[in-house]
Amino acid sequence: MNLRTISMNNLKLIGPFKQLLPMTGLSPKGAIPDSELTVLEDAGILTEDGKIHSVGKFDELRKAQTGAEIFHLEGDHVGLPGFVDSHTHICFGGSRANDYAMRNAGKTYLEIAKAGGGIWDTVTQTRKASKEELIKNIVKRANRHLKNGTTTIEVKSGYGLSIDEELKMLRSIKEANQSTSADLISTCLAAHMLPKDFDGPASAYLEEISSKLFPVLKEENLTRRIDAFIEESAFSTTQIEPYFKKAKEMEFDITVHADQFSTGGSMVAVKFGAVSADHLEASTQTEIDLLAKSDTIATALPGASLGLGCNFTPARKILDAGGALAIASDHNPGSAPMGDLLTQAAILGTFEKLSNAEVLTGITFRAAAALRLSDRGKLAEGYLADFSLFHTDNYNEILYNQGSFKPCMVWKNGELVHNKHKTP
Ligand code: NIG
Ligand code: FE
Repeated sequence: MNLRTISMNNLKLIGPFKQLLPMTGLSPKGAIPDSELTVLEDAGILTEDGKIHSVGKFDELRKAQTGAEIFHLEGDHVGLPGFVDSHTHICFGGSRANDYAMRNAGKTYLEIAKAGGGIWDTVTQTRKASKEELIKNIVKRANRHLKNGTTTIEVKSGYGLSIDEELKMLRSIKEANQSTSADLISTCLAAHMLPKDFDGPASAYLEEISSKLFPVLKEENLTRRIDAFIEESAFSTTQIEPYFKKAKEMEFDITVHADQFSTGGSMVAVKFGAVSADHLEASTQTEIDLLAKSDTIATALPGASLGLGCNFTPARKILDAGGALAIASDHNPGSAPMGDLLTQAAILGTFEKLSNAEVLTGITFRAAAALRLSDRGKLAEGYLADFSLFHTDNYNEILYNQGSFKPCMVWKNGELVHNKHKTP
């Protein structure tokens, strides 16, 4: 394929697309049949200063905007908004390949932890890593996601588990954001587990984090989001309530690792008006109905189900109950080492019987809403010019290939940041 530049100014016209899916006009919540998807044919995207100026018929846009720089697409291309991965842990040191082998060989969580594995192993490895090493790791992983069409990536701390080490992680995420074209959205997950070297009960640890770390997060503008892992092996609902109360008072957004192995987390998420409740593999109809009635976005993490070999989040039931469903990769060294959002979303769709529209909304504007970002996830006037191109004439090919079909081009803020065709 050849890209031909016809003229230069701050307007760029990309097209013609055989099919363009703007993901507009779709409900923020509930089930969506594929018939509701808008598919624009022979379309173009006109960008201006990194944002979308307009979307329409390529020929009409070309006639109306004679001064625009034109990126002419040869052959058939489908265009989609840049994907949003609203839950990852890509800031870490080391590997947990040995945990994975032991787990598959039938070892229990306790046996793996005793052999030196589990979250604490990654905490040890991450504490050993320098800030520079962490930044290098984040950028490398983020750039891989970007190449696969993910233009916005949430990144959690949570492998530091002390004030200084959590700060090291969050400062690394902030700096890494300057070295990748993807947008990194950070989250403080200091409440991932009670650190083994903390001298005191969970309540004292959480009190120390909220009174000493939260103010620094504000001062240094390190994050606007607080996450906690509510689970028997991590923190209980009662332990977390004062922590979230403090976070709310300080105007942080709340998100929760909820109902992964046992219920309780999603109830707290709804009670505190969390932006999202993530995991939900153990949610029953009670939790599903509660989430569906709330403004909290239910986030499925199929990568964790695939990594642990356990059941998927009840995505079909969540949508049928009227809930908002996002799908994220949970990319982390323990439960979700794969880190391939498109593959995982496609597989979730197969097992949970989701329409392509439901899967695509889950990794575009519904995932953006889980991060409280209303400027991305759709292709429409005023939105960020973040989009991917797939070399096909039929958008159904994308999920059908279950992630093995990668984008040939990725645009972020109106710039071409990945081009498989490597044209001049
Ligand atoms: O989202 N569930 C808790 N935390 C991570 C796993 C982290 C790890 O195993 O390192 C998750 O799956
Ligand atoms: Fe997670």
